[in-house]
Order: sequence, then structure tokens, then C-alpha cells
Amino acid sequence: MWQIHQAFTMTHEFPVCFDRNTLDPEHSVLADILALAGRGPHRVLPVIDDQVLQGHPDLVERLHAYAETHAKRMTLIDPPLIVRGGEICKSDPAEVDEFYQRTQSDKIDRHSFALVIGGGAVIDAIGYAAATAHRGIRLIRMPTTVLAQNDAGIGVKNAINYKGRKNYLGTFATPFAVINDYDFLSSLPERDRICGMAEAVKVALIRDGEFFHWLYDSRERLAQFEPGAMEHMIARCAELHLNHIRTSGDPFERGSARPLDFGHWCAHRLEELSDSDLRHGEAVAIGIALDSLYSHAQGMLGLGVLKQIRETLEGVGFTLTHSALKALDIEAALQGFREHLGGELCITLLNDAGEAEEVHEIDLESMHRCRQQLLEGTWPQ
Ligand SMILES: NC(=O)c1ccc[n+]([C@@H]2O[C@H](COP(=O)([O-])OP(=O)(O)OC[C@H]3O[C@@H](n4cnc5c(N)ncnc54)[C@H](O)[C@@H]3O)[C@@H](O)[C@H]2O)c1
Ligand SMILES: [Zn+2]
Repeated sequence: MWQIHQAFTMTHEFPVCFDRNTLDPEHSVLADILALAGRGPHRVLPVIDDQVLQGHPDLVERLHAYAETHAKRMTLIDPPLIVRGGEICKSDPAEVDEFYQRTQSDKIDRHSFALVIGGGAVIDAIGYAAATAHRGIRLIRMPTTVLAQNDAGIGVKNAINYKGRKNYLGTFATPFAVINDYDFLSSLPERDRICGMAEAVKVALIRDGEFFHWLYDSRERLAQFEPGAMEHMIARCAELHLNHIRTSGDPFERGSARPLDFGHWCAHRLEELSDSDLRHGEAVAIGIALDSLYSHAQGMLGLGVLKQIRETLEGVGFTLTHSALKALDIEAALQGFREHLGGELCITLLNDAGEAEEVHEIDLESMHRCRQQLLEGTWPQ
């Protein structure tokens, strides 16, 4: 037997910027990011979520004005690729296919950039397309929803759906850069502004008790979408997610422990069962509530914090019941999650706000009782 032990390491780094008015030609953030790849000008193919364009009709014009001012750094490909926003662009292969076609017709190669401006779904789908075309085109993400700015748009994963299975096809691929521009949120429907808060509650509960208490105290300001409160919520949530990816020792999720998936084992199933009537954030809020109730039922989580979790989630605007919850086959969902993790079941529960614990078995009878409490709104008092 002859064996060569092949091993090398690679550093992954990318800036995540928090800003406003990024496309003002006076603003250099985007141009500075492009300069990181060499002087340029670099070919940039803009890919835009159609709902974002509807909310910001001058967006293409502003991109052109920006590119003109920063012509030394970028050559904007015209016309931009406009894609359908929301889950449809992950479920229907049309947008990914169109991206592949445009990369060919517009000569986008590994030295060029795709600049994706959109919600988490568009970022996921175009992230997948960019990671696979030419084995990886540089991607700059400009997330435009709360959830995309504090979670979906800042990480290392992308995916599309396959035959009804959420996120079945995907890759781990780091972006070249992320620019979170809060101004995009002005056109976001109320429902989607609320959605993104679920991930903040999630990451606070597993990582940062102080942040959870801030969320609890700020729930009314957040329900009013007060800019100062929203920006702090987004920035801290993003920071905690990024910290986790950087320090967990498992950025590409090879192991079974998935603390960031707190509340998610049933959330993905609920999204599927509701036929996407439930948004990701809404399903996650229900998942957090269910796993918090279960943590309490197991004698882990105190009643005081449990009540605060409910008040926080309902306070910012979530409804914690849905018909999909009734239809949920708990055993099958857990089994599906076990397979998703690669064999061993690993569910994150809570001992306290900011204190998570992994468990490997679930008491099904107790979980059924918690589901019932959630459906009936009869939480322990
Ligand atoms: N890759 C990851 O790590 C990761 C993590 C969490 C979630 N996700 C994925 O993210 C997706 C959900 O993302 P989302 O919550 O951003 O929802 P979304 O992308 O579905 O957007 C919701 C709706 O808002 C529209 N929209 C987006 N920005 C807008 C704006 N500024 N103004 C007006 N309308 C706007 C979209 O077109 C869409 O219709 C799911 O597919 C989920 O699986 C991925
Ligand atoms: Zn999530």
C-alpha cells in the first residue's frame, strides 16, 4: 500500500459591513471591497430580487450612477438579472438556470463578481448558482430582509430546494463580502420585518443571556420597528452568528452538534407542511416555543424565563400556533433531522437564557404534550 497524506488549510475571510445609503456615489464601501480583488475594473453582474426593485424603483439607475463614478473599480453588466423574490426562486430551477446562462453570455468568470441584492431566498439560490458556475464566482451579497441581514445572508451556506425538500441541494461557500444596508428594510412588509426577529431570539437564547434580556425589554420598540432597536437587534444577532461560525471549530458543519439549529428540527418540517405558507422565521418562532416548552417540561428551563420567551416572541408579533403544527409527525421530523445531521440525533435545549445543552434523545410523549400546550395556548403558569 502506498499512501500520500494530503493536507492543506485555507483561510476564509470576508468583511460584513453595516451601513446605510451604500449606493450613494460618494460612498466607497462597495468600491473598496472590489479593490480587495485588485485594482480592476472588475466585471459585476447585478442580480436583483424583483420585490426589492419594486420597493426601490430607482435601484438600477443608482447602480449605474455608482458604477460610473467608480468606473476604475467596476464595469456594471447591463441589464441586471432580475429574479423572482421569495421561496419560488429556490424551488423553481428557472432563476438558477438563467444565472448560468447570463454568466456565459456576459462572460462572467472566476475573476468577475455577482452582486446579489435580495432576501434570504434569492441570496441562497444565487449563492448556490454562483458557487457552482465555473466552480465558484466571487459573490458580494447585499441582504435586504431582517432575516437575511442577521442570519441567512452573512453565513457560509447556500441552497436550493429539490422536489419539495428544502435546502436539499447546496454548498458551503464563503462570500467575497457582505454589505448590510439598513435602508433596504424601509420597503420590507411588516410580516417579513417580524420574521427576522426569530433568529435573534434564537441566538440570544443559546449564546447571550444579556442580549435575550435586552430583546425582552425592547419587545415593544421592536414591534414598532424603531430603527435604533432594529439596528442593534440585527447587528448583535449577526455578530453572534459570525462568532459561532468562526469559533465553533466546525464552520462547515461536519459534526452533529448544531446549536444554531435551536428550534429548527421542526421548523423546516413546518415550512414544508404549510406549503411555504409559514415563512422561515415564523416556523422558527414556533420551533423555539416548542423546544422551550419541552426544556421546561424536562426540568431544565425555569418558568420565569419560559414566560419571558413567550412574551418576547408574541410581543414582537409572532403567532405561536399554526395548523401545520397539528399535522406535524414529531417522530418522523426527528428522524428526518437525525438523517440531516448524519446519523446521531442532537437537539439543542435550554437550561437558561444564554445557556444551551445538547441532548440525544427526546421523550416523545412529553414532546406531544408540549405541542398540545402550544396549539391550545395553555402554557404552564
Ligand atoms: N443560508 C443560510 O444560512 C440560511 C439561513 C437561514 C435562512 N435561510 C433561507 O432564507 C430564506 C428566507 O429568507 P427571508 O426571510 O429573507 O425571506 P425571503 O427571501 O423569502 O423574502 C421574503 C419576501 O420579501 C421580499 N423582499 C426581500 N427584501 C425586500 C425589501 N427590502 N423590500 C420589499 N420586499 C422585499 C422577497 O422578494 C420575498 O417576497 C429561506 O429560504 C431560508 O431557508 C438560509
Ligand atoms: Zn433559521
